Amino acid sequence: MKAMPERTRIPGRHFLQIPGPSNVPDEVLRAIDQPTIDHRGPEFAELTLGLLEKIKWVFQTESKVVVYPSSGTGAWEAALSNLVDPGGKVLAYETGHFANLWRGVAERMGLEVNWIESDWRSGIDAGKIEEALSEDKDHEIKAVMAVHGETSNGVNSNILKVREAIDSAGHPALLLVDVVSSLATADYRHDAWGVDVAIAASQKGLMLPPGLGFNAISQKAILVSKECQSNRSYWDWRKILESNETGYYPYTPASNMLFGLDKALDLLQQEGFSNLFSRHNQLAEATRAAVDHWGLENVCTNKDEFAASTTAIYLPEEFNADKLRQGILEKYNLSLGTGLGKFKGRVFRVGHLGDINALTVLGTLAGVEMGLVDFGVPIKKGGVEAAMAKIQA
Ligand SMILES: Cc1ncc(COP(=O)(O)O)c(C=O)c1O
Repeated sequence: MKAMPERTRIPGRHFLQIPGPSNVPDEVLRAIDQPTIDHRGPEFAELTLGLLEKIKWVFQTESKVVVYPSSGTGAWEAALSNLVDPGGKVLAYETGHFANLWRGVAERMGLEVNWIESDWRSGIDAGKIEEALSEDKDHEIKAVMAVHGETSNGVNSNILKVREAIDSAGHPALLLVDVVSSLATADYRHDAWGVDVAIAASQKGLMLPPGLGFNAISQKAILVSKECQSNRSYWDWRKILESNETGYYPYTPASNMLFGLDKALDLLQQEGFSNLFSRHNQLAEATRAAVDHWGLENVCTNKDEFAASTTAIYLPEEFNADKLRQGILEKYNLSLGTGLGKFKGRVFRVGHLGDINALTVLGTLAGVEMGLVDFGVPIKKGGVEAAMAKIQA
């Protein structure tokens, strides 16, 4: 076996500044660190009944939320498998790498994907959704797949405009929205925006470790799922919603993660939406101020669509972004997000989401700036001061 290179310990907290998994607050870690309980006992039912009500708040919905022991990818598959008949048609928009992966899930499930191409540098053009749906005179398209926060490029799309586009086309397609990196980092209004299924995961704005996937489901989607002819078992909302009525699951749930979720929701509620979103916006703005000052290029080209969770940054072509990230990790104990898909080696990403504050982001930006200098990237020094000025403004 090839010997692993020796890694010496770097003292102090590791800076985990990838765009998810994000840092988990100590209170949440302590909540998870409890004796496991009987998932068919009364204590578990009490937890679940409270939690399934409490979680509606974060999605801004009055409707049902299904919680899976899964990653976000599972929650993508769950949404499609409950709503689209075998071989059915869906419409999807190429916001970036994650939209692409979701498309792959749909195709491997045997669905026909009507794909709207884009360049990964801006969000959804709702006009193109309206056009595609207007052409679908027989209403063969059953669902529109839209990514709200595209974590690969730091672009957030306007979901209300997508809803309006579907309505203007007079089309009955369901609206499925990936909120994996936007939930609890940016305003997301499930009911007000008429979304049928939101797909989420625990490891980003919800400040939990990876391991839970979510579907927030409209009444319309619940009705459609009852008639849906797809073969499904583990993901089937019907069985889960039925068991949830009495506080249980049709399988062994991730009970300790649910303890953590309960605590994380308490912390988010204590902060409140207004503070939560303004904190994320301010930290994102500070990061962009540093990027601009360094003279580097933000992948997102539309200032109305900058994500509050992530900033994706191009390096000049002669530099490899993964080598930069590796150097920063080894020297400063800071993890940054890699470039995904066609951005591999060209882009690195700063995550500014979850349980972080101004000093966490300034420390991160200091690590990035020192790494850029170490790596010989021609930048204008002083990006951290530009970020500080945004925070103090
Ligand atoms: C926007 C988005 N959607 C979906 C996923 C997939 O989630 P998971 O990796 O938990 O399966 C991710 C993961 O980072 C994501 O950022």
